Amino acid sequence: MFTNFQNPPADAILELAIAFRKDTRPNKIDLGIGVYKDQTGATPVMRAVKEAEKRVWETENSKAYLGLGGDEVFARSVQELVVGDAVDAARVRSIQTVGGGAAVRLLADLVAEGKSGAIWIPNPTWINHGPIGRAAGMEVRQYTYLDTASNSVAFDQMADELSKVAAGEVVVLHGCCHNPTGADLTLDQWKEVAAIIRRNRAIPFVDIAYQGFGDGLDADATGLRIVAAEVPEMVISASCSKNFGVYRDRVGAALLVGEDAVSVDRAKGILLSKGRVNYSFPANHGAATIATIFNDPALLADWKSELEGMRQRMLNIRIALSAGLAKATGTSRFDFIKANKGMFSLLGVGAPAVDRLREDYAIFLPPDGRMNIAAVKEAEIDYLANAFAKVI
Ligand code: LMR
Repeated sequence: MFTNFQNPPADAILELAIAFRKDTRPNKIDLGIGVYKDQTGATPVMRAVKEAEKRVWETENSKAYLGLGGDEVFARSVQELVVGDAVDAARVRSIQTVGGGAAVRLLADLVAEGKSGAIWIPNPTWINHGPIGRAAGMEVRQYTYLDTASNSVAFDQMADELSKVAAGEVVVLHGCCHNPTGADLTLDQWKEVAAIIRRNRAIPFVDIAYQGFGDGLDADATGLRIVAAEVPEMVISASCSKNFGVYRDRVGAALLVGEDAVSVDRAKGILLSKGRVNYSFPANHGAATIATIFNDPALLADWKSELEGMRQRMLNIRIALSAGLAKATGTSRFDFIKANKGMFSLLGVGAPAVDRLREDYAIFLPPDGRMNIAAVKEAEIDYLANAFAKVI
């Protein structure tokens, strides 16, 4: 059997990580996979996470199974963090998942079961949205998201294309800090999108993986909440990988907003059954750790303050990098980096420039030119800016 297999389709982000590890140049710079790094290049365990893990270890007295939906305190806390009071809690359900990725997959399986037909994803989007939609058996279609000339949202075109989405079809939106572009919708644009989706009776599917990295914890969820308040049904995938820095622990949540308590309970049952046939129960450690943080006001305050420090640092890097690029190129071409939100910006430099950055300067970017701003060290900004100026 195995001898008949072909290699699976490549995942550019994961391939880049492997190529980076293999490269022996001491000055190599990894601006690929979306992981926050501090000014020394380390991805630290956040203080509140470290303390909460200790408490979990000290107080945990059983490893017996929890329910299919994982840690309920965790799931309810993430629900509050994401949805706030935008919708009556009687219409919302949430479960713990194996990272935000599994939330996307289980929700895709759920909407596929609802015979939604097509799932519309932004072009461009997270490298895994299309494959997950197809794996769930959906027809994956794309709507225009980016105006490549200005590196901002091509909103008129996006709104026009979304107006053609049929009733019951699913529209994927990034809650904040769009991956890979860093270009987000304004609140007025969110309102317009919410109105289009409601008018067309489409199902919004909001993926929020960077809450707290853009404009702050609440501000980053405002667009999503605008939609939630408008529509009868909605699905949301949330990740704790980035804002709690628990990448390898795989902690996320899948949220459902339904028309009423009865229908949303039924949908939750189906969602749990999708998890059951996939991985049965989600692992507890990361979710128990985060539940411990939510349950302790001092830990919660410390987490928020450390997260805010990370956000500020990314903003400062954006400002310094766009200034460095303006100086090195003598143009304002990269000013959009300052306006982008979160971890990523799409440099728009083309594949040959990306290849040269890697070959001549040991700077690793995925082929689409997405740059992980959160991996830039302050001390490397001049080197990066000069390298970019040389290859474009
Ligand atoms: C990324 O886009 O780099 C991250 O979300 C990691 C991943 O799973 O692709």
